[in-house]
Amino acid sequence: MALLEVTNLTKRFGGLTANQSISFQVSEGEMLGLIGPNGAGKTTLFNCIAGLHPIDEGTVRFNGADITRLSSHEIARLGLARTFQIMVASGDLNVLENIMVGCFMHTASRMRAKAEAQRILKELELSDLGGYLVSELPVAAQKRVAMATALGTRPRLLLLDEVAAGLNPSEIEGITATIHRIHAQMGVTIMLIEHVMEMVMNLSQRVVVLDYGQKIAEGDPRFVVKDPNVIKAYLGERYAKEHA
Ligand SMILES: Nc1ncnc2c1ncn2[C@@H]1O[C@H](COP(=O)(O)OP(=O)(O)O)[C@@H](O)[C@H]1O
Ligand SMILES: [Mg+2]
Repeated sequence: MALLEVTNLTKRFGGLTANQSISFQVSEGEMLGLIGPNGAGKTTLFNCIAGLHPIDEGTVRFNGADITRLSSHEIARLGLARTFQIMVASGDLNVLENIMVGCFMHTASRMRAKAEAQRILKELELSDLGGYLVSELPVAAQKRVAMATALGTRPRLLLLDEVAAGLNPSEIEGITATIHRIHAQMGVTIMLIEHVMEMVMNLSQRVVVLDYGQKIAEGDPRFVVKDPNVIKAYLGERYAKEHA
């Protein structure tokens, strides 16, 4: 059984079809990349899966249950978490407290929430940051804190939306290692939207490609990047030549 099963999902904004009858599955333990040009409908797809947008057609099943009509809060409780492309950090809380907010979803005990938040920080090698306000941190650290905050909810599936955007190459290396650790050591299934192709190629076992709201390719990233439709829609001829 797939952990996530999206079937014929369609989402319209007025006359614009942002997601057109999209189907795919994610297996437990998998890391799936979601790529495509700006405006292709990637973030919308995440929002539909996570219950932030009502969908027009189709179904979303998570861990065997139909979650299509559930609220984002109910979906989070079932173990599906997401980070946002644009960071929403609580300004008055420090890093540790931010992560504790997620932990309060499954415990009412402040002591337990704190212990778990500390464990997550340690696991991600971020223990030094616990006392800082999120707004005080450099962007790269903020992105890692965003992932740590999502982990506080104990997700089985984590949706990551462009966590490497705006980072330099060494920061990208660091965040790639963090994602790898969340996947391999913490055992979280991950779906990842990313424009940094090297990162997608290194991390993803499989990729889904969107263009104008439609799924145009799916499969092993090594084959998908050679697909003429993907080159035309997204990667460009130059990428194809450089990586031939
Ligand atoms: N809340 C919204 N209201 C109206 N149109 C939207 C909304 N969110 C996204 N769109 C439109 O849907 C399309 C897909 O956007 P998005 O999912 O953000 O693409 P991506 O994440 O792939 O860059 C774009 O044309 C965008 O302008
Ligand atoms: Mg987006």
